[in-house]
Parts: sequence; C-alpha cells; structure tokens
Amino acid sequence: MTDKELLLLAIKARESSYSPYSGFAVGAALLTRDGKVYTGANIENAAYTPTICAERVAFFKAVNSGERDFVKIAVVGGKRGEAISSLCAPCGVCRQVMAEFCRDDFIIVAGTPDDIKTYTLKQILPDYFGPKDLK
Ligand code: THU
Repeated sequence: MTDKELLLLAIKARESSYSPYSGFAVGAALLTRDGKVYTGANIENAAYTPTICAERVAFFKAVNSGERDFVKIAVVGGKRGEAISSLCAPCGVCRQVMAEFCRDDFIIVAGTPDDIKTYTLKQILPDYFGPKDLK
C-alpha cells in the first residue's frame, strides 16, 4: 500500500470523528506487516480527559484484534467540516503508544495527498522510555 493510499484511508476515517468540543477532526489509518488496515478517528468526551486520539483508536483496535507488527500510520486532521490542514502531527501520548508496539523504523505519514510528509518513529520520538527499560 502506498503512502498516498494510506493517507486517503485516513481522510475517509476522519469522517467518523466525534469532536463536538474541539471542533477538530482527526483520522488515522494503520497498516500491518501483512497488509491489513485499521482505521480510527478521535472520540471526545464532555469530561475532556477521556478523549482519545484517532491514532490510539486505530492502534487499540488493531492490538485488541491480535495485531503486533506494524509498518506505518497515516494521520490527518483539521477543523471539522473543513479540508485537512497541511500537517497534523501525532501528539506525544500517541507517539508513546507507537513506541510500545513499533520499532524505530515505523513510518508516520502526514501532510496532504499532494504534499505527503513522512517521518520515522525514531525521528519524532528519540530516546524513548519503552518495553526495553523494564527488562
Ligand atoms: N487529536 C488526535 O486525534 N490526534 C492527535 O495526535 C492530536 C489531537 C485530537 C484530540 C482532540 O479530540 C482534538 O484532536 C483536539 O486536540
């Protein structure tokens, strides 16, 4: 699956965002090593802190379905009802969740279909605390 195809799936997933408080809708599409895609959109809550990001919805759906081997995730976001913004970078908590299940070479695909930006997990979260630290 190309980066662009995955980004387009994230744009589609964004339609499921429940974001009445921030008005900011995010979509994510996570690709497994064997070619399956798990999507997510952010889900907000009136008490605010239970809110969950699109990336973590995608990861938790996948992990709870038994997946453990991931290649890349596409993330897009922007004001609800408007086009996606030029870049929606994953928040720190989502980066930490990626670090739990992915290696340094895991790819984050962001930007827009016409201007795709890619990063490795190592680039956006160097020297992280992870499973290795508890061994
Ligand atoms: N959000 C995400 O879904 N992913 C991110 O990486 C950043 C933020 C959501 C959370 C909240 O519903 C809204 O965007 C505004 O912060």
